[in-house]
Amino acid sequence: MPSAPEVAFSRPCFGIEEEEAAARAIRSRWVVGGPSLAEFEKRFAEVCGAENAVGVSSWTTGAFLLLKALGIGPGDEVIVPSLTFIASVNVIVHAGATPVFADIDPGTFNIDPDDTERKITPRTRAILPVDQIGLPCEIDRFQVLAAAKNLILIQDAACSFGSKFRGAPAGSHAPYSVFSLHARKVITTGEGGMIVTNDGELSAKLRRLRHQGMSLSDYQRHKSSPTMFESYPEIGYNFRITDIQAAIGVAQIQKLDAFLARRRVIAQIYLDGLKNHTTVVAPSVPQHVTPNWQSFQVRVRDGQPSTRNALMEHFYRYGVATRRGVMASHLEEPYRHMGARLPHTEAVAASSLQLPIFPEMTHSDAERVLEVLSNFKS
Ligand SMILES: Cc1ncc(COP(=O)(O)O)c(C=O)c1O
Repeated sequence: MPSAPEVAFSRPCFGIEEEEAAARAIRSRWVVGGPSLAEFEKRFAEVCGAENAVGVSSWTTGAFLLLKALGIGPGDEVIVPSLTFIASVNVIVHAGATPVFADIDPGTFNIDPDDTERKITPRTRAILPVDQIGLPCEIDRFQVLAAAKNLILIQDAACSFGSKFRGAPAGSHAPYSVFSLHARKVITTGEGGMIVTNDGELSAKLRRLRHQGMSLSDYQRHKSSPTMFESYPEIGYNFRITDIQAAIGVAQIQKLDAFLARRRVIAQIYLDGLKNHTTVVAPSVPQHVTPNWQSFQVRVRDGQPSTRNALMEHFYRYGVATRRGVMASHLEEPYRHMGARLPHTEAVAASSLQLPIFPEMTHSDAERVLEVLSNFKS
């Protein structure tokens, strides 16, 4: 058995720029609520083609804060895919609302707009579609649906920073989008999240709520007269992201185009190598979508969990790290009692796996993955 895989699954891409950015934030003593955060938020919003980005400690705290700020809570239903990292579902429960699961399109792994529409009831308040594996969901269908049924639309863009839908960046379509900055995302600050919206008033509220409801930010207070006291008009939380993280985030954004270009090269090697492959099927990418290739997920053609597992073992034996595909949240203990039946979700979760992809992967790493795959006998 290999002690460490020859081809890693995913690695954050940091260089001297991130080290120096973090060091500068530390030397400045502005380690939270300072100028690096303001700069990171501004640059993040620009990439998303949106007016505001509000930095938070994770996607999870950001989405929870947003649900609370929008008044979504007990008695409300929120439609969400089950095929997602379970955080997308957990936040709905944390806010006191009820998740309602919709099935997916097995080709793209994204929530099916038609099934979403079927799941709407008089209690539905919001839809939370997910850009799974960084491949944007059919957000324009959800915009139409949300407008027609008077529902709040929140995009789980945890994985899709830098992706495009009909030529426009993720974050520019839905009224509210939430991104993750976790280590496996296209840019990372270790942990972290961003809420993106054109609603300036809501952004100000979210900035207060992430900081215990405080009326002034630390930086505003620092720059104002000593007797300009802050107030606490609302009950808030501590969901802050630090300026050390934000400084790293600015350095990461400067490399975004290079990261995306590398990911595209690796993905193309896989896509070319997997055309008409006998064992696995690559994801289908609609013409109007440009994914950031945050993950590269494939399904085993025969749909058998045993084949998927054997393939993962085979990769492991030959030094290639893989992960199972995106989970089916409704099959986990907290949600099993709801008895949701989601045939496409269940089939995909049982038969999919993810291949290594990250910017520092080499051409020969990707070729090695394909070579190991070609030696697999099911
Ligand atoms: C689709 C999706 N939503 C939400 C999350 C949660 O993000 P975070 O870890 O930043 O809270 C993730 C993280 O992997 C994710 O993939």
